[in-house]
Parts: sequence; C-alpha cells; structure tokens
Amino acid sequence: MEMKKEEEKMKQPMIKLANGVEIPQLGFGTFKVDDGQQVIDSVREALQVGYRHIDTAAVYGNESGVGQGMRESGVPREEIFLTSKVWNSHQGYEETLAAFAETLEKLGTDYLDLYLIHWPKTAEKTAATWKAMEELYRAGKIRAIGVSNFKEHHLVTLFETATIRPMINQVELHPQLAQPELIAFCAEHEIAVEAWGPLMQGKVFTLPFFQELADKYGKSIAQIVLRWHLQKGFIPMPKSITPNRIMSNFEIFDFVLSPEDMAAIDTYNTGERIGPDPDTIEF
Ligand SMILES: NC(=O)c1ccc[n+]([C@@H]2O[C@H](COP(=O)([O-])OP(=O)(O)OC[C@H]3O[C@@H](n4cnc5c(N)ncnc54)[C@H](OP(=O)(O)O)[C@@H]3O)[C@@H](O)[C@H]2O)c1
Repeated sequence: MEMKKEEEKMKQPMIKLANGVEIPQLGFGTFKVDDGQQVIDSVREALQVGYRHIDTAAVYGNESGVGQGMRESGVPREEIFLTSKVWNSHQGYEETLAAFAETLEKLGTDYLDLYLIHWPKTAEKTAATWKAMEELYRAGKIRAIGVSNFKEHHLVTLFETATIRPMINQVELHPQLAQPELIAFCAEHEIAVEAWGPLMQGKVFTLPFFQELADKYGKSIAQIVLRWHLQKGFIPMPKSITPNRIMSNFEIFDFVLSPEDMAAIDTYNTGERIGPDPDTIEF
C-alpha cells in the first residue's frame, strides 16, 4: 500500500489539451544538440530514464538522430509524445505539407504528436501554414497542432482565419520572463503553454537566490526551477546532453515548493528576454 502511494507520487504529470490529447508535462529539449551520436545518445538516455516527451524542430537539423535515439531506446513509438516544428522559410500551404513529409521521413515515423509553427511570420504566411496544419490534423497525421513564439496579437490574428484553435503555444518562459498576461490569455483560450529555455539557457545557475533555495530543499538549482514550472502549470522541456543532468532533471516529482517560495521566485520576473523578440526577428 505504502509502495503504491510512493509510486503514485513519483508519476510524471500529464496535461490534457483542448482536444483531449494528453501531453507529459516534462519534456526533453534538443536545440543545439548535434545530429548523429550526440542526439542519438541523449534522446535514448532520456527515454530510458523515463521522459516520454521529446521536442525537436526541422531547423535543429537533428531529426534523423532523434528518430534513431527513439528506436534505440526500446520505448514503443506510441508511448512517446513527439514534437517538431515547421521552419520559417517553409511557411506557406504547399511548403508546409512538403516540410511535414520531410520531417516524418527524417524522424522515421508516420505521425507526429505535435506540430508547431516555429515563429510567427506575416499574417498571410501564418494563415496558409495553419491551413496545411489543420488538414494534416484532420487527416490524423498529427495528434495536436500549435504555435511557438506567438504573442497575444499573433494569436488574435490567427484566430481570424483558423477553423481549429492552436492547442499549444511554446514560448520563452522562465523566472525572469514569466509572461503572466500571455499565460492568462492562453488559459482563457484553452491553449496550453510550453516553456522553452526553462533553465534560462544556463543563466539561472549564476543566480545566488536559486542556490539558497536548492540548499533549503536539498535539490539542485535545475530541479527547483523545473519544479516551479510544473507548479505554474507550464510544460518545460529542459535540454541536456549530460547523462547525470538528464537523470536529475527528471527527478522532480517527489517534492513541492511552498507557496512562499513560489512567490519569491515570481519576484524574479523582470520581463527580460534571453532569446529574440518575436516582433523583431530577422530570420
Ligand atoms: N520554440 C523555440 O523557438 C525554441 C527556442 C529555444 C529552445 N526551444 C526548445 O526548448 C528546449 C530547452 O531550451 P534550451 O535548450 O534553449 O535551454 P535550457 O533547457 O533552458 O538550458 C539548456 C542548458 O542548461 C544546461 N543544463 C541542463 N540541465 C542542467 C543541470 N541540471 N545543471 C546544470 N546545467 C544544466 C545544459 O547543458 P548541457 O546540455 O551541457 O548539460 C544547457 O547548456 C530546447 O532544447 C528546444 O527543444 C525552442
């Protein structure tokens, strides 16, 4: 009985999307992970540790290795929630259909769990891209469709032409950029929010306050910050190519941050981005 309770506590949480599909709340990132052995090893390792949600993108250039790592892990395809993204230069209706086919081929799979528009472009481009994604979704090739790096105004524009609302918005999100207004808007429209750069791309490890919290809970800084994401209801996808970090970043289901410590972390929100601003990108 006790054992069962322990197992229950350690289970990774799932988030139900607007269409009923469930996504594991903790994902695994692969940005800047080289195609070939590096991505094969880290994806295999992550799946063997217990992650069931892998995030890649066409522009990362590592989809082949991600697919290889998935196969080498021995975890059945249907147990893995797999995301990829259509790159900016492939936006448009025909272009997106072609980009999607190439992504599937590289990954060595016949469907995606989630396909995202990587960055917002012009309203026309985004509308055409979305039309292709809606078709692929209706054809059963993608279990959920969404966007990335969309601000509220990009979402509002997309709503004007969309017949299916995005189920996810993946944005830069961490204690320094907590985006409360965007989060509230997404909640109002049943759009789940994924956090990229959840560890501030490494910057969080230089902040003494997080070391103090880590000492208080007997956890690592990464575990504290990832736990903050989970308790906020975000879907973080930390990236690591280091086996012991891949493992420890997954060990965050057995403790809870107090409301006071959650609030203290919230005070770090200065609104400062680490990555590019979606309104001014030049790529
Ligand atoms: N949609 C978008 O536009 C977009 C943009 C950026 C990222 N993403 C996605 O989000 C994922 C995560 O974001 P990110 O990769 O930019 O940054 P991140 O996950 O915030 O940070 C990754 C960095 O933290 C280090 N790290 C990880 N765990 C650690 C630990 N326990 N202790 C110390 N250092 C640790 C990693 O080092 P090692 O690898 O050397 O261990 C790496 O340098 C990406 O991989 C990608 O899948 C999406």
